[in-house]
Amino acid sequence: MKINGNMEKFYYYAFPMQAVLVTCNDGRGKTNVITIAWHSPISKDPPLYGISLAPKRYSHGLIENSKEFVINFVPYDLVEKIHFCGTHSGRKTDKIKDTNLTLIQSQKISTPLIKECFAHFECKLTKTLTLGDHTFIIGEVVNILADENTFENDILKVEKTQPTYYIGGNSYTTIGKTKRDF
Ligand SMILES: Cc1cc2nc3c(=O)[nH]c(=O)nc-3n(C[C@H](O)[C@H](O)[C@H](O)COP(=O)(O)O)c2cc1C
Repeated sequence: MKINGNMEKFYYYAFPMQAVLVTCNDGRGKTNVITIAWHSPISKDPPLYGISLAPKRYSHGLIENSKEFVINFVPYDLVEKIHFCGTHSGRKTDKIKDTNLTLIQSQKISTPLIKECFAHFECKLTKTLTLGDHTFIIGEVVNILADENTFENDILKVEKTQPTYYIGGNSYTTIGKTKRDF
């Protein structure tokens, strides 16, 4: 038997979604970090990646002004830090300091990446689309960095590095089963 879902939380039925940390600069030498679950690859050529941001987020204005951002893919052992960055605003606190995350220089843009994450997309803003109550922020991926020995033939070694997935509310999960080489 099927039961009706909750329209107010329609997107919950699309969870789990990988939660990433997005870094962005404030133009005065400070970097903010925001947790994002609504994000997606869009195009292979050119390589485009999109994040859906509510206009009220502090990071929204930072990315509009700096025109760049980094997508950082986060191992599950940092789940508390993901939750913190998704429940506190950079308007009020320095989340990099609060979480003890380490920033290191990117190669092609000035926004830094988070060392403790396992892969990174350096993105240059190409387009913003207002879609309903969110802005779809589209970046061209101008560089990718990843931890050595974390991918094999570009496929994540999930037995070694477990990504973090958001399932709604205050809840997260990670990968339990893997089927390789069909
Ligand atoms: C797991 C998780 C996922 C989130 N995903 C998004 C998202 O995709 N888009 C968005 O606008 N906010 C999202 N948020 C909310 C922001 O991360 C949160 O409002 C944050 O405090 C904003 O930070 P800022 O004001 O420093 O930009 C998410 C929060 C959590 C906990």
